[in-house]
Amino acid sequence: MTRYPFDFSDKVVFVAGGTSGINLGIAEGFAKAGATLAVLGRSQDKIDKAIEKLRAHGGRASGFSADVRDTDRLTEVFTQTHEALGLIDVLVSGAAGNFPAAANEMSANAFKAVVDIDLLGTFNVLRYSYQYLRKPGANIINISAPQSFIPMEMQAHVCAAKAGVDMITRTTAMEWGPEGIRVNSLVPGPIQGTEGMKRLAPQGSDAERMVIESVPMRRQGVVEDLASAALFVASDMASYITGTVIPVDGGWGLGGAGQLGSTLVELVKKN
Ligand code: NAP
Ligand code: COA
Repeated sequence: MTRYPFDFSDKVVFVAGGTSGINLGIAEGFAKAGATLAVLGRSQDKIDKAIEKLRAHGGRASGFSADVRDTDRLTEVFTQTHEALGLIDVLVSGAAGNFPAAANEMSANAFKAVVDIDLLGTFNVLRYSYQYLRKPGANIINISAPQSFIPMEMQAHVCAAKAGVDMITRTTAMEWGPEGIRVNSLVPGPIQGTEGMKRLAPQGSDAERMVIESVPMRRQGVVEDLASAALFVASDMASYITGTVIPVDGGWGLGGAGQLGSTLVELVKKN
């Protein structure tokens, strides 16, 4: 088990999209470091399983069923979180959707679905939690993707949405810095066993092999890699770091990540 040299006891950590995969791994990292957790996702079944995992680390954890596209529901969720737990110390915004699709074939609604969840959803989560963020002291971590700065075939919707997410990181870092709020993006590389990888480079596929070969560290990441980075970025050791976009990708974004696009062309042709 990874042991973290950080203490987040007495801190409230809210993870939007924290009921599975990378974001749940990040939530677990904070739970192991003693934090009180709140996670949000749509599926109640996934929430229940996530809460069980988080509580197994010994701390408090609660879950909310909500869609990040629903601002009325987000208002309720953040009000309830404040009533139950107090101000938010760390906010992670990572709800996202992805599927490979050609720009000339996907519907406007398909493009919109991803932009609404990833980009508008990130804005909504930051906007509607803002009044309940600790000032000074709060940390926001947006979960981006290599598609934010690397164009990729079959990913026009995701590239556009995640590039926007990183601009939200930079602009809110400027606007909210004077109040003592830091905002950063973490950019996961290919992370083993996740929904994202299942959709773009399924286990055992040629695409998965190509991905591993194109990562300088020659391996996929694990969710703990993201948890370690999130704990550092949210800690006092990173107190002068804000407005940054930090890859946690074994060097994939240095040159290899763009190759995934050509395998997605094949994947979509086959399906
Ligand atoms: P995942 O397991 O599908 O996690 C997505 C989370 O967001 C789940 O908790 C999901 O729960 C929630 N969610 C999705 N749509 C939502 C909505 N409309 N409203 C509220 N919650 C919603 O995916 P993952 O692969 O771990 O990816 C996590 C993050 O890392 C994403 O931001 C992704 O873009 C980024 N990323 C992943 C990889 C990778 O290798 N997997 C690489 C680069 C970046 P419900 O479905 O129940 O709502
Ligand atoms: N190719 C092309 N279009 C697709 C598609 C695909 N594989 N999957 C969905 N769409 C289209 C739908 O056809 C619909 O467009 P239409 O109304 O013109 O037919 C549009 O996208 C919205 O689909 P819908 O199923 O109503 O969206 P949703 O809001 O219920 O779900 C998704 C959003 C599509 C992103 C869904 O995959 C999801 O919930 N993903 C979350 C998990 C995930 O993707 N994890 C990985 C994170 S990296």
